[in-house]
Amino acid sequence: MPATWAISGVDMHVDVENSRVRASIERELREAVRGGRLPPGLRLPSSRQLAADLGLARNTVANAYGQLVAEGWLVARQGSGTRVAAAVADRDHRTRAARTPVTAAPGYDLRAGSPDVSAFPTARWVAALRRALATTPAQALGYGDPRGRVELRDALAGYLARARGVHADPERIVICSGFAQGFDLLCVVLRNRGATTLAVENHSWPAYRSALRTHRLRLATVPVDEDGAVVASLTDEDAILLTPAHQFPLGSSLGPVRRTAAVAWAADTGGLVIEDDYDGEFRYDRRPLGALQSLAPDSVAYVGTASKTLAPGLRLGWLVLPRSLLDPVLAAKTRGDYTGVLDQLTLAQFIAYGGYDRHIRARRLTYRRRRDNLLRTLARDAPGTQVTGIAAGLHALVTLPTGLTEDEAVTRAAQHGLAVGGLRPYHAGGQPHPPALVIGYATPPEHAFTGAVARLAAIFRTQ
Ligand SMILES: Cc1ncc(COP(=O)(O)O)c(C=O)c1O
Repeated sequence: MPATWAISGVDMHVDVENSRVRASIERELREAVRGGRLPPGLRLPSSRQLAADLGLARNTVANAYGQLVAEGWLVARQGSGTRVAAAVADRDHRTRAARTPVTAAPGYDLRAGSPDVSAFPTARWVAALRRALATTPAQALGYGDPRGRVELRDALAGYLARARGVHADPERIVICSGFAQGFDLLCVVLRNRGATTLAVENHSWPAYRSALRTHRLRLATVPVDEDGAVVASLTDEDAILLTPAHQFPLGSSLGPVRRTAAVAWAADTGGLVIEDDYDGEFRYDRRPLGALQSLAPDSVAYVGTASKTLAPGLRLGWLVLPRSLLDPVLAAKTRGDYTGVLDQLTLAQFIAYGGYDRHIRARRLTYRRRRDNLLRTLARDAPGTQVTGIAAGLHALVTLPTGLTEDEAVTRAAQHGLAVGGLRPYHAGGQPHPPALVIGYATPPEHAFTGAVARLAAIFRTQ
């Protein structure tokens, strides 16, 4: 019996097992405190209120609280209710500090690239794994189909069609270990077909460039403006890699005219469009933009990933391929490239039982709130900055006030205990953007977010 309640803006998901109600409440709260989702000092709802929210007897919740107080995770004080114990955080902090060298990484992190991994839906994931193990025949644990497990391809086909508008035939889906492996496979196929040049957006993820170097493909760049990549500047490249839903890292989305132009270029030249849909689920101020792939499923190779929706460490991604690329991609995939079957089956169950949609919906609310908080704080405390690329995704671009360089901003942030990244490493060629920081507001755990943003604002005050 899953339930959700909100405390001081923190969404708490509780999976209450019908047969072990009290034990599951204790376990969920313990994990939430240990993982930082419930920060030190946070006041919990009263046992009466939580019992009412969860539809349980008050005594059950009161006993669970009592046990956690006895274990030192919570403290109960007359008149101030039940709170998360400070000592827990101190204890974890002390052991961490003891292991940490003097040149420790800053305690706060607003670098782009990761969702809040402390919000990983552990209990639901474990439940999905159990279901997967209980319902899958042992044969599934063999090497199997190089495309990946059919259960996951079926689940993804339904999800991608519904949530991203992708034309997703399960036969054309290939499971891979994140975008990174999907793109590697496409590079191998392009090289085998005699391709020489691949275009990327002129500010883009540096990992694209290292993959091109590995596969000895020449880099071309296209400019990016507020309507996304200027695809009209394409000439005789063999392929273009685009981030249409939310340009990484500048943050615009590919406009309708540019979308049509991209697929027209592919049709005219036989070029391939590679769509990196890394954070397409996260759109805040208007409806999600569907995938470019739906305009021309035989010219666009769509690449999706669970790295932003769930966690990058899962290494789960998927390709939806043009018909002509399916066999070449499978031929390029060796057994060393196979993705773990249990993770595939777990994700299939997670999607099929609604856990994936629910998790994304909850994350979207949290990230939107964080984005709004970031915007408010910078508007108030960081005059001269300009924040763009905010309608979607997990990051924003903060253009620096005149006179402040990226290196200075990064150094000042480090002095305040905050890790941030400048825009310059993303520059792949052509016209550079003015100095800016790429702020990943999804990265910190919930309890560290406000502190991280306060430290970000502080670097502008010391100008
Ligand atoms: C532009 C872009 N695409 C894709 C990804 C995800 O890559 P992977 O699925 O290999 O973790 C990232 C991660 O930071 C990214 O920045």
